[in-house]
Amino acid sequence: MHQDKSTDKLSGDSKQNLIRRFFGASRNAGDTASTSTDAAAGCSHVAEELTRFDAFPGYQQVLIPQAAARRIGLDNPFFRAHEGVAGATTRIADRECINFANYNYLGLSGDPRVNAAAQKAIEQYGTSVSASRVVSGERPIHQALEQAIAKAYGVDDTLAFVSGHATNVSAIGHLFGPKDLVLHDSLIHNSVMMGIQLGGAQRRAFPHNDWATLEQILADMRDRYQRVLIVIEGLYSMDGDIPDLPRFIDIKRRYQSFLMVDEAHSFGVLGARGMGIAEHFGIAGKDVDIWMGTFSKSLAGCGGYIAGEKALVEHLRYAAPGFVYSVGMAPPLAAASLEALHIIQAEPERVARLQERGHYFLQKAGELGMNTGLSQGYCVVPIVIGQSLKAVKLSNQLLTQGINVQPIIHPAVEEKAARLRFFISSEHTKTQIDYTLNTLKTII
Ligand SMILES: Cc1ncc(COP(=O)(O)O)c(C=O)c1O
Repeated sequence: MHQDKSTDKLSGDSKQNLIRRFFGASRNAGDTASTSTDAAAGCSHVAEELTRFDAFPGYQQVLIPQAAARRIGLDNPFFRAHEGVAGATTRIADRECINFANYNYLGLSGDPRVNAAAQKAIEQYGTSVSASRVVSGERPIHQALEQAIAKAYGVDDTLAFVSGHATNVSAIGHLFGPKDLVLHDSLIHNSVMMGIQLGGAQRRAFPHNDWATLEQILADMRDRYQRVLIVIEGLYSMDGDIPDLPRFIDIKRRYQSFLMVDEAHSFGVLGARGMGIAEHFGIAGKDVDIWMGTFSKSLAGCGGYIAGEKALVEHLRYAAPGFVYSVGMAPPLAAASLEALHIIQAEPERVARLQERGHYFLQKAGELGMNTGLSQGYCVVPIVIGQSLKAVKLSNQLLTQGINVQPIIHPAVEEKAARLRFFISSEHTKTQIDYTLNTLKTII
């Protein structure tokens, strides 16, 4: 299936006509630039700052915190380079560190079996499938991965996309339009917001995890829209807490809405076998309409998926632009995630250890009087510092003590909620956790 590329084949003249038809004649009077401009003469009246990348307001915003940090002599804590596999430990600037800044929750990125599966896939299929699966054809490894995810959820089918972010953008953007309403948790991931924007649906946030307010909004507004989608996450990556899923299922049923759960941080983490928030609450996969997840975290790869009933998955497979017009997953990544899923299912002790270490971290931080916000101690524990610059300073100081943790600063969170965010892995030892929290306690 190809996007219409007919303009590429036009001669120079017809191309000009086409461009004039679309841009010349139909421009609004206020649309500056080329309407009043003689094409041959070009134009000279555009403000200079509109022609330079360094004058973009967004770029200026990016520079402000960097300049502030430099002024007080702080190193930039972002984009630190890792010199090997980043798991419970990592190597930064030629030094071994305890690492709390990645999503390798079960230690499977870097696992020799996962590496071997990726290498085998490269030998068999190469490193790229080169085009959309619709165009270039299937590789059995894609289908095997999709079927394994569908089976894990107990639903009909799954579709794998090349990025988790693009999964939400493409699925929501394609399925929900201007006559529809999307209600989402106030802490929902950016990719959900971008999907809503793309599709043009109406949007309302409800306070974090507050199903009672969600119900009030639905009671007030449900009748004004065609389809309604409710979007929540299985485990919130900024705060480390989980929603009361059975309540959301009950509400979506009573208000004839769809429920989507983003399991980026909960698949592999929640439930006795790591099968996510459905397993945690003992609910059937079919009780949620759209399961979304990412391959980049517990599943040790890269990409995202949508799992659910056949009509949902088939619709996206044949029509969602982010799938139809984008390359299929690279074979080594699909093979890596499939192998990671098999290991999670065969070794539930990894999941148990992750949950135990997460709870240990939370309990110990509490004993030391640290503010861990809403965290329930699975794989994410924030320690709220309350000032962005202090959080950056602490992150840099910890690095000198052999501990890598990222600060989360304004505007990602409110200034008073600036924090250090610790991602826990099943491979962290209690000794590493003790050392980290005791070190932090001496400098906080
Ligand atoms: C909740 C949530 N959804 C979607 C994504 C996007 O996933 P990816 O980074 O794999 O593109 C993330 C990223 O961390 C996330 O936290």
